[in-house]
Amino acid sequence: MLFQNTVLDGKKTDLRLEDGRVVAIGKLASIQGEEVVEGGMITPPFAEPHVHLDAALLGARKPNVSGTLTEGIRNWAELRPTLTAEDVTARARETIEMYASWGTLRIRTHVDTGNLIAVEALCALRDELDDIELQVVAFPQEGILRAPGRREDWERAMALGCDAVGCIPHFERTTEEGWETVRMAFALADKHDKMVDLHCDETDDPGSRNLEVVCAETLDRSWKNRVIAGHCTAMHSYPNPYAAKVIELVRASGVQVVSNPLDNIVLQGRYGGYPRIRGHARVDELWAAGCSVGIGHDSVQDPWYRLGTANMMDAAYMLVHYAHLTGEDQMRKAFRALHHDNHLCFGGPPRVVAGERAQLLWWPSADPIDLLRDRPRPRVFRA
Ligand code: FE2
Repeated sequence: MLFQNTVLDGKKTDLRLEDGRVVAIGKLASIQGEEVVEGGMITPPFAEPHVHLDAALLGARKPNVSGTLTEGIRNWAELRPTLTAEDVTARARETIEMYASWGTLRIRTHVDTGNLIAVEALCALRDELDDIELQVVAFPQEGILRAPGRREDWERAMALGCDAVGCIPHFERTTEEGWETVRMAFALADKHDKMVDLHCDETDDPGSRNLEVVCAETLDRSWKNRVIAGHCTAMHSYPNPYAAKVIELVRASGVQVVSNPLDNIVLQGRYGGYPRIRGHARVDELWAAGCSVGIGHDSVQDPWYRLGTANMMDAAYMLVHYAHLTGEDQMRKAFRALHHDNHLCFGGPPRVVAGERAQLLWWPSADPIDLLRDRPRPRVFRA
């Protein structure tokens, strides 16, 4: 098929697909009988840097009556021991197909290391998938040092073949123990030659200061582009001078911050009554400092957030609203994050070039602001 007058990398061009490959880009005449699509825009597929497939689609099985983070954690703790490999795999497959239908062909999932059956199931699914790239992060949902056995499960999950080491330092018992788990996570990643991807400071507590330790470890090891800090919502409540210091550390270290706007807008800011604060990473200030920022969806109908659609555009749409990113360039940057910055953990954004297999999206408009407003389903090519 032939795309004509279609925007690619900011310029209008023509592009031909044949037998699942991009065969030509440039000024092209149509061949008799081929399908011709006029206009619109082509982008690389989206990437999802942060979701929990082991918990996806479980929200209805034990409803979160209060809608809070704490009840979500409680419900998950009840559901987790009941999971079978078949159940985890079936829900993960269904969720992955939801993602793919909205244009996401690379997915990084966290998996709770408190259930090694789920760890094995998702690693096996990753190895089986062909046109979807899946990565699995060993995520100790209930901490590493809070109870005996958790560290062993976490280390076992890495030995089972996870792609990145997770941790949750703000959930450990003390500040010092939180910092210790950050250092343990880097050491474990070093041992397995893997990446680090933490749930970092996912709290409204301005005293939660693990991100600076993450940055310091990253700097000391020169691990630029190898470390992701997810959530970082405490940053919202940091005093401004401290926020400026830590954002500069993020920039210097090359840590990527992944904001998860759909969950954070409903789970943060629950302690203070009115006026209600928002709890989110300071994406505008991170961008202004030159930091890399990803946008995650985090929850697809799981115990924490029932409204997840697996459409990454919904996450970007929420972010631009609640983080005041409705400047023209900011909205375009949010759209670009989905097909560019979000690919960092997969080795960088794929390029749409002649000779490569056709993994790309066609959009009915060339204006990302139209697309963010309407959030249409793209035409997805997933050779
Ligand atoms: Fe998460």
